[in-house]
Amino acid sequence: MEAADLLHGNGKKPPPPRRRRWWQCSTTAVTLLMFLLTNTVSIVVSSGAGPALLRRYRPATIRLWDGSAALLADLNATQAVLDASRAELAGLYARVGTANELLRTLLDAMAARDGATEQQRELLAAGGGDGWKRELAGELKLAVGPLHLLTNARHGRNATGDEAAVFPTLGHACVRVQDDLERYMAYTPGGECPADEALAHRLMLSGCEPLPRRRCRPPSPKGYAHPLPLPGSLWATPPDTSVVWDAYPCKNYSCLQASSSCDGCFDLRRGREKARWARDDGALSYSIAAVLAARPNGTVRVGLDLGGGASGTFAARMLERGVTVVTAAVSAGAPLNSFIASRGLVSVHVSAAHRLPFFDRTLDIVHAAGGLGGGPAVTGVMLEFALFDVYRVLRPGGLFWLDHFPCSHAQVNATLAPMLGRVGLKKLRWNTGRGKEKNQWHISALLEKPMA
Ligand SMILES: *[C@@H]1O[C@H](CO)[C@@H](O)[C@H](O)[C@H]1NC(C)=O
Ligand SMILES: *[C@@H]1O[C@H](CO)[C@@H](O)[C@H](O)[C@H]1NC(C)=O
Ligand SMILES: *[C@@H]1O[C@H](CO)[C@@H](O)[C@H](O)[C@H]1NC(C)=O
Ligand SMILES: *[C@@H]1O[C@H](CO)[C@@H](O)[C@H](O)[C@H]1NC(C)=O
Ligand SMILES: *[C@@H]1O[C@H](CO)[C@@H](O)[C@H](O)[C@H]1NC(C)=O
Repeated sequence: MEAADLLHGNGKKPPPPRRRRWWQCSTTAVTLLMFLLTNTVSIVVSSGAGPALLRRYRPATIRLWDGSAALLADLNATQAVLDASRAELAGLYARVGTANELLRTLLDAMAARDGATEQQRELLAAGGGDGWKRELAGELKLAVGPLHLLTNARHGRNATGDEAAVFPTLGHACVRVQDDLERYMAYTPGGECPADEALAHRLMLSGCEPLPRRRCRPPSPKGYAHPLPLPGSLWATPPDTSVVWDAYPCKNYSCLQASSSCDGCFDLRRGREKARWARDDGALSYSIAAVLAARPNGTVRVGLDLGGGASGTFAARMLERGVTVVTAAVSAGAPLNSFIASRGLVSVHVSAAHRLPFFDRTLDIVHAAGGLGGGPAVTGVMLEFALFDVYRVLRPGGLFWLDHFPCSHAQVNATLAPMLGRVGLKKLRWNTGRGKEKNQWHISALLEKPMA
């Protein structure tokens, strides 16, 4: 009681002491008690000690009362509630974890904005309207829409023959890079498209995706000849005349083969490229045969190769086994798309941040070599987005082959493994090992999307 009175005192003389019974404590003391009690309960619950305590004291309570069966039932019920609370807490922790990741991304974005140029800041501040800093004109205005469909009784519900508006797809982030976008869209409608793959790639990485260029013709290379027929084309270096080299530092394939930019991936005759995925070392390097053996023969039919199969070699190897694989590629720095196409394989233009251009549950296998994005390794929320997207496009029972994914030693167990669990992919095989650089680790894994 004195303690309660002390709590009241704030320099003033305490009120004259009244005699109180033990249950008539001050509200502050009650609040304090409640506070302590709730906290203790949460600590007990979250530490997992709650149910343990209950189990420990069950025999003692049985001896104290006659109606021990009823009490036991009560205890059972209490324990069930505690268990439920623990599960809920675990869920909350997981959600807090995700929220933290998102918050970090937001903070990064804000930091990046603080470092942005005056011009970009102006643009962000402008905010109003559609966010464009200058009124749109020409091709860009057309490409952003609205365009009009003539609707009529046969083609829609609108029987009046009026026009319906259609908005072409355009990345909302295009407004942030209007200068680059205007440069990109400054072509002659009906004429030849400029060779500016690097600019296109930069726009895509800014979130300006899909790109709005709609009305020009990419030039054909001079002296273009028909490609070799399959299967010879799979392993033949394409003729130099299959590429428009204007946008690239190299002007022929011998130059590309000599440059180390993708570790000999343009050299199909010799070395690394020829032997990839043929041998399983029981560790980080899996063979295609070993991976396909995880499913009944013939049930892996269509798939996607993300990132690492830069020159289409993974798809070539799979095609030899009757599996159709689409290769995701970008053509910044080297004409990867032309190279893949010349081999007789399908490439799609996809950046690391792109939602995969496939329907849900349609692919039997997704292979990702290296860092997932064909460039520096994808991490954080972006990695989680990418993994959830892989989950989305895989059919139930579909395989995700993570091939030499680079990360730091600490990330292996602290980040990647729990993230894969969160996404819902199940491990069939898991290998980690040192990379070439200091403190760099690699993970190879074969994961499956559960059947249900
Ligand atoms: C309490 O639960 C246990 C199993 O969890 C069960 O064996 C026991 O019969 C239950 N007791 C009562 C009284 O419900
Ligand atoms: C037909 O389209 C016009 C213009 O888009 C719209 O104003 C009108 O309400 C539509 N009529 C019907 C029946 O939907
Ligand atoms: C390939 O291009 C390089 C310069 O990029 C040039 O030096 C070399 O002669 C070219 N080789 C052939 C076979 O055209
Ligand atoms: C898979 O089936 C094909 C033909 O359907 C057959 O040639 C091949 O040997 C089979 N592979 C295995 C591992 O059974
Ligand atoms: C990850 O955890 C497992 C045990 O769960 C351990 O064997 C392994 O060495 C750890 N790997 C790394 C890279 O920390």
